[in-house]
Amino acid sequence: MSAHRAYVGLGSNEGDRDQHLRRALERLAAVPGVKVARVSSFVDSELVGDGPPQGRFRNAVAELHTTLPPAALLAVCKALEAEAGRRLPAPRNHPRPLDLDLLFHGDCRLDTRELVLPHARWHEREFVMGPLRELGLDLAALPRQQRPIVLTSPEDLAATCTGWLEGGCLIGLVPTMGSLHRGHQSLVQRARGECDRVVVTIFVNPLQFGPGEDFAAYPRDLETDLARCRDAGADVVFAPATAAMYDPAFCSHVSVGAAAEGMEGALRPGHFSGVATVVARLFVMVRPHRAYFGEKDAQQLAVVRRLARDLGFPLRVVPCPIVREADGLAMSSRNVYLGAADRRASTVLVQALRAAREAFRAGQRDRDRLLQVAAAVLAGEPRAALDYLELRSEGDLEPLPPGPVVGGRLLVAARFRDGARPVRLLDNLSLAADDA
Ligand code: PAJ
Repeated sequence: MSAHRAYVGLGSNEGDRDQHLRRALERLAAVPGVKVARVSSFVDSELVGDGPPQGRFRNAVAELHTTLPPAALLAVCKALEAEAGRRLPAPRNHPRPLDLDLLFHGDCRLDTRELVLPHARWHEREFVMGPLRELGLDLAALPRQQRPIVLTSPEDLAATCTGWLEGGCLIGLVPTMGSLHRGHQSLVQRARGECDRVVVTIFVNPLQFGPGEDFAAYPRDLETDLARCRDAGADVVFAPATAAMYDPAFCSHVSVGAAAEGMEGALRPGHFSGVATVVARLFVMVRPHRAYFGEKDAQQLAVVRRLARDLGFPLRVVPCPIVREADGLAMSSRNVYLGAADRRASTVLVQALRAAREAFRAGQRDRDRLLQVAAAVLAGEPRAALDYLELRSEGDLEPLPPGPVVGGRLLVAARFRDGARPVRLLDNLSLAADDA
């Protein structure tokens, strides 16, 4: 095999940092098929991202001339990390005696579980860019991974995911309708922590909006959403046009039974069929190992769990806790449409749920008395027009008979109508939850 020019980033923040780097360079130079051509100066840097308190890093970049293919060079790097005393599996962002990152390997482009070439984040790290500049490289001319990759066609999404699946990657899917806030971002971050690749979909799905609902007025802002996806660590953002998802002859829908009855299902006929149809389409395109859904939309979560079980999608549905504003209002893309007075009044939903939970904690077990506690709080806020208030079983959200309960989830929906347009807000709380 002819020799390639490869670049390796070295880092250490445990033990004798300079010694670790020098030793790694000597060991690299001794590997058959590897020549260490040039080495940058050693520079200091701080940890990037969250981690336990720890010392500064010592970093450098080495230019290698090598006949080893990328996978073999990576194996050498891993062996040298282990030899330096790095514990495996290495806890994320913990101090380490030696970190070797393969940055570039000739013109090679790779995207597998083990190796991404060029390195996904070299251009975000000064401790890599500085040394590369010092070695005389023109950073603007160096190849980059685009992250997130923005795709609009289902075929491109499926092909990208096929490549990752073949590369052994664990894929996480976060379906959204955009207008992203910290609630959505918490799903993406969770997926980022658990999966090798994270796909976020942004699609305002017409099938799940009824006539007279806010499909046309649903807030859309792709540029801001892309920045939020990038910050939260998405690898792909899939933002198709409606016609790309549903061709003009599209006529097959997933019909949902009991899980879609009552509450949102009763108020929005066809809504959960539309949700289940688009979610099934996304599951088929992406073939994720895990799909992340918010407890914010508890009935949707129950519907999607049933969908995955009933149709046999080989994936895990991961429920994620509700992210709230400081005053307790559950974050929602629709909150922006609340007028100032309604915004203040909107906290009545969470207050009502918390009051019932307090009563439960204090020993109240009767279903209807618990509901009365919440209803009394809601009745004190004339701006909230109640759609429903229910206590259902955890998980499947089955109706609970009157009488004593051992637990359950309270669900509420109400309309507010003084802002730019009427807004429906949903909230729910587990009686067993110990969050705020
Ligand atoms: P959307 O309303 O954009 O929500 C996308 C996901 O983010 C859902 O799983 C939702 O429960 C979650 N989410 C929203 N607000 C949250 C909050 N405050 N805390 C935690 N998670 C939150 O739900 C949909 O879109 C659509 O119905 C979709 C599933 C994408 C199908 O079109």
